[in-house]
Amino acid sequence: CENDRRQFLKLAGYGTLGLITGGFWPLSDYSAAAQSPKTLADTEFLPDLDISLTARPSEVAIFPGDPTQIWQYQAVVHRGNKNRVVEIPRSYLGPTIRVRQGEKIRIRFKNLLPEESIVHWHGLHVPAIMDGHPRYVIPQGQSYLYEFEVNNRAGTYWYHPHPHGRTGPQVYRGLAGLFIVSDEEERAVGLPDDEYDVPLVLQDRTFGTDNQLIYTSGHRMEQMAGFLGDMIMVNGLPDFTLPVSTCAYRLRLLNGSNSRIYKLAWKDGRPLTIIGTDGGLLERPVRRQYVFLSPGERIELWTDFYDSQVGYETSLISLPFDTGGMGGRRMGRGMMMGGMGQNQNLPNGAGFSVFNIKVTQRVEKDQPLPEQLSEISPLQQDEAVNFLNPRQFFLTMQHMQWSINGRVFQMEEVADDEIVQLGSKEIWEFHNTGGGMMNMMNMPHPIHLHGKQFRVIERSGVMHEGYVDEGWKDTVLIMPGERIRFLVEFDDYPGLFLYHCHNLEHEDMGMMRNYFVRDTISSDRHI
Ligand code: C2O
Ligand code: CU
Ligand code: CU
Repeated sequence: CENDRRQFLKLAGYGTLGLITGGFWPLSDYSAAAQSPKTLADTEFLPDLDISLTARPSEVAIFPGDPTQIWQYQAVVHRGNKNRVVEIPRSYLGPTIRVRQGEKIRIRFKNLLPEESIVHWHGLHVPAIMDGHPRYVIPQGQSYLYEFEVNNRAGTYWYHPHPHGRTGPQVYRGLAGLFIVSDEEERAVGLPDDEYDVPLVLQDRTFGTDNQLIYTSGHRMEQMAGFLGDMIMVNGLPDFTLPVSTCAYRLRLLNGSNSRIYKLAWKDGRPLTIIGTDGGLLERPVRRQYVFLSPGERIELWTDFYDSQVGYETSLISLPFDTGGMGGRRMGRGMMMGGMGQNQNLPNGAGFSVFNIKVTQRVEKDQPLPEQLSEISPLQQDEAVNFLNPRQFFLTMQHMQWSINGRVFQMEEVADDEIVQLGSKEIWEFHNTGGGMMNMMNMPHPIHLHGKQFRVIERSGVMHEGYVDEGWKDTVLIMPGERIRFLVEFDDYPGLFLYHCHNLEHEDMGMMRNYFVRDTISSDRHI
């Protein structure tokens, strides 16, 4: 414990992170004290859940023959003086962490990977120092102590590594897991639970004939498009079939892929009934014929097989779509990858089956779809401090490099226009203006904000029906030519947070920036 604590204090940013460049705020005199949560030494932090989470090389039998070498989160849960190892059946994914809103969580992260890493809690509102910013990376053998109270709405969140330049390969090797939060409001609605509440993590992978994972060639063009595997994995398993009974299910889908976008639909033509998105339940269910799910996004489906016969089979499929340029069908398969990678088989925008569903059992269980799922406060755009003049971000490519407002990630850099006031509401506007070259290099970008959930208030450009912008979001897909606006309130925590493209290869290339939430009270510029 003492070791953990020392490590934590060191990582809390004591010491100088100074870097001064023209027009950017210096990140010196980081005042960790103000943000530092209580540590192991303070007995006041009594966790409701205490987990040791270790990232380590491991192996798993996915196919007949040799096991696949993976990297994995493995967990031991401490309760009282009992330690329980969390079993993960035949999957490279990490354990699903389930908590209730208001619970205090301690996670003792240990890095046993042969390289630096750090864990980020995607979608959770946590203090900056608990958010897994890449500047907190720890080398092999070291630990990082996370302690925070879960104050999010009920919803499907997740965790994954966030070391700069290495997020893509680390997630690809298996490092990811779900973090599911429940709350009173959700329990009162009475949704399908236990075996009828099914999390499904969608990812694509490429395996060699030796059963080992193959990542990108590292070729610049391939990096710019993002990694695309030729096999769809669900919860870490290929050819996934979900056996169901003749009743209602809550399916929680996470797109945990590096760069693949899914255009989801039911093969039998029934519409999708969506009950939740990134930040939890919608106010009321919405129906769509199809819905886009880009990397990092979550969607919750209500699906009921009450009128199906035992033996009935269907699939969740991904429909073909035009990505508007690079990585899309418009360029043609041969031209797109030009033989540079292993992933010619399944370009972004191809059609394929994601997983199968098979009705295997009749049950008498009648559960109607609730009309009201949660309460979501009405949008008050005019309360935004920059209502008349939203903060603008342009997603473009410059010099074979994806950028935001012409900038790429610098570990300790915040520009003047990336500083917000704690306690303020703002409108942020993103334009996907593309990569030039006669639109050949246009790409969709799923933009993700750390620190807060936001509300999409406007989407203009190509009008697709496949978006669910109604609820709380932390990641939003922006197609080439589109412009979106979201409303966000920075009312939680001061400090340094990230916003970035969740195409992990784009992120690793630097399509990521810091933003700084300045504490109004101290009104200093220190981060
Ligand atoms: Cu899931 Cu910074 O990302
Ligand atoms: Cu995140
Ligand atoms: Cu991108």
